[in-house]
Amino acid sequence: MTMTIRTAITDADYEAWRAVRIAVLPYERCPSVAEMREFERPDRLMLLAELDGEVVGSGLAVRSDDGKRASLAPRVRPEARRRGVGTALLFALADHAVAHGYDLAGAGVDDEESGLFAERFGFVETNRQVEQVRRISAEPAPAPSAEYEIVSVADRPELWEAAYHQVALPTLPDLDVPSPLKVTAEEWATGWINDPAAMFVAVAGDQVIGVAGLLLDTDQPERAEVAYTAVRRDWRGKSVAATLKRTSMAWAADHGITEIYTWTQRGNEAMRRLNEHLGFTYGMTSVSLQAPLPLTGGPAEG
Ligand SMILES: CC(C)(COP(=O)(O)OP(=O)(O)OC[C@H]1O[C@@H](n2cnc3c(N)ncnc32)[C@H](O)[C@@H]1OP(=O)(O)O)[C@@H](O)C(=O)NCCC(=O)NCCS
Repeated sequence: MTMTIRTAITDADYEAWRAVRIAVLPYERCPSVAEMREFERPDRLMLLAELDGEVVGSGLAVRSDDGKRASLAPRVRPEARRRGVGTALLFALADHAVAHGYDLAGAGVDDEESGLFAERFGFVETNRQVEQVRRISAEPAPAPSAEYEIVSVADRPELWEAAYHQVALPTLPDLDVPSPLKVTAEEWATGWINDPAAMFVAVAGDQVIGVAGLLLDTDQPERAEVAYTAVRRDWRGKSVAATLKRTSMAWAADHGITEIYTWTQRGNEAMRRLNEHLGFTYGMTSVSLQAPLPLTGGPAEG
């Protein structure tokens, strides 16, 4: 059998890359080709792995959200595993990261077997995220508040940029992650929202005080991912987040969505409790891992 690792370049390559990702992670929204093109950056690498000309694996190397690590994601279709494809992908991604000056790699695994694979190359656990899932049925719209107004970003597009400065920048440091996330205004505008009709902001006077909404999935329109939810510190404890989330759940019910899901950091008790209070139940667990670069345990080392 001949194995080939090559860079994904054309739209057809991107579709093949998406097909692997959807087969390996069927429970997670996969960005569209257009979205993936928008996130293009010079140090991002997207790979395809072929066995005898058939695409069986994909790889992604990209700067991590905290800017300190290269996030590496080798993925192999279940039927093509244990033939060295994952290892070949991982080392091609790691070589690229080293060439771009990274000395640390991050990765994530959702199942024990993938954890055993990663462990072999020096990855150790740094954090855990839990999936919370909510079935959507009849969802009553929340009662309006006298103190603030909830509007969709489709109705007030200019508020998404305001939300970056007034809500995202002051609240991102509150997330329980090993180092604070660095999100640029451009990333906020493209990667943190997809359909503005499904994204909501809370406005008090001329200030955005909170954000919450859904990231829609054109591959599985009945499932949506919960987007970043945050309320400014001075407005916490006043049900702003619950009201925003209930607004998005009512929107989901009106738009044929039957399930919404979210991944919450292990330590983010406040968000987990809020979701429990809103009727979310627990799903899978995802483990975040880290390894020094260059990786050890490569194919040449046996
Ligand atoms: C992790 C993943 C990429 C491995 O792909 P793969 O092509 O099967 O990996 P390889 O054949 O190169 O495996 C290399 C070694 O890893 C270890 N390994 C891989 N899968 C394993 C499993 N299910 N159980 C135990 N060890 C395993 C073994 O030591 C294996 O060598 P061996 O087959 O000679 O025993 C694949 O399982 C996958 O796509 N998982 C979901 C996505 C994911 O979590 N990726 C992130 C990993 S950092």
